[in-house]
Parts: sequence; structure tokens; C-alpha cells
Amino acid sequence: MTTEITWLGHSCFAIRTGKFDLLIDPFLNDSPTAPVKAAEVAADFILLTHGHFDHVGDTLEIAARTGAKIVANFEIAEWLKGQGVAEDKVVAMNSGGAVDLAFGHVKMTMAHHSSSLPDGSYGGLAAGFILLLGNSRVYFSGDTSLFLDMKLYGLERLDLAVLPIGDGFTMGPEDSVEAVKMLNPRQVLPCHYGTWAPIDQDAAAWADRIRSHTAAEPEVLLPGEKITI
Ligand code: NI
Ligand code: MN
Repeated sequence: MTTEITWLGHSCFAIRTGKFDLLIDPFLNDSPTAPVKAAEVAADFILLTHGHFDHVGDTLEIAARTGAKIVANFEIAEWLKGQGVAEDKVVAMNSGGAVDLAFGHVKMTMAHHSSSLPDGSYGGLAAGFILLLGNSRVYFSGDTSLFLDMKLYGLERLDLAVLPIGDGFTMGPEDSVEAVKMLNPRQVLPCHYGTWAPIDQDAAAWADRIRSHTAAEPEVLLPGEKITI
């Protein structure tokens, strides 16, 4: 089974795995770098790392159109139901928990970040995901600082790690190198940069650093480009 992962700018990824379409953090309509609009994407599942507007994004619109199930922490799941999402379209989790869904195995991981929802509601704790898609294990850290427990996630033999490098609101390029050392993935893909001026980064310089300081292969994409794992 092959899995294609397309960067849709910022922290949004479209994943095609087997016959399923997944979206992570679908911030599209208001994203200056998204190559598609919310009305154009396919989704069977939407996974949310936390409550911030640049991650929840167009979830409600896409879920209403596609009937996608939304995977999120308990507080965001409750908020979604309050916004009119049907109970059977929400999969609630929390940090450290895992669920088997039609497309694969999903574990919610810790992240060091905040998580208020767009209307100011409490959004629980920010999170990441480790996804087992076929035989491939992919870690989406979500918005986070560097943290030592990444060493534990590195024990899981990661094929790909997706990390923020924008700095300011998340870890920056330097700390992402330390994260890669702990996670020891085969490949690493940067996100959460280049969307707005405060999080601009030189991705080519970042890739050189990853190559010279870690064993991982950096995969720099432009919004709309994809990798196959
Ligand atoms: Ni955030
Ligand atoms: Mn963010």
C-alpha cells in the first residue's frame, strides 16, 4: 500500500492512503499559501492537532460537505458537537491514547503549545499524531517546542517526521535539528513556515543543516507538492 502526503501550506497535509483521504489541520481558505480551497479537497477523515484558527481552519465546512469523521482531543470534539457536528462524525482522543480507524492506527502524542479555539473556548491540550499507515509510521508533531520525550517517539521507528520550523510560535530550525536527532526518522518534512513574514525561514539552509547534523533525509516541498512513502 502506498501513501501520498501532499503539503497544502502551513500545517495542512492531504494524505491519500489506500482508498482513504485524510486531512491534517485543514487551514485553506484564509491561508496565504494554500494551493487549494476548502471546497476542492476530498476527506474521509480530518485530524486536528489543536484548536488554533490556523489548524481548525475550514474543518466545519469540509466536514459538512464530505461527511468526513473528525479526530481531535476531547475538548475540541465537544466543541465540534456544539457547532453541529454529529456525534458519530467525531472521534475523541487524548494524549497517549490510540485508536484503530479504517485507514490505520492513530496515536495522539503530547505537544508543548496552547490550544484555544477560534471563539475563545478552551481547546484542551495541543497534540501531535503518530500514524501507522500500512507499514509506514509517520509522526506529525503539531505546533510544539522541542521536548525531551521525543526520544520515546523515536523508539517507534519513524519513517517520516513532520515538524514545524517557523520559530516564534513553535520550535525553529535549530531546535528542529535536535528534534530530528531524538526522533531518528528516515525522512523529515518541515511545515509551519513561510505562511506569513514572522515565520519565514530558509528551507534550503534548514535542509543542509539536517543533512550535515542528522541521519535523516530532509524533504522540502512547495505547497501543492507531495512525497510518497
Ligand atoms: Ni498553534
Ligand atoms: Mn499554528
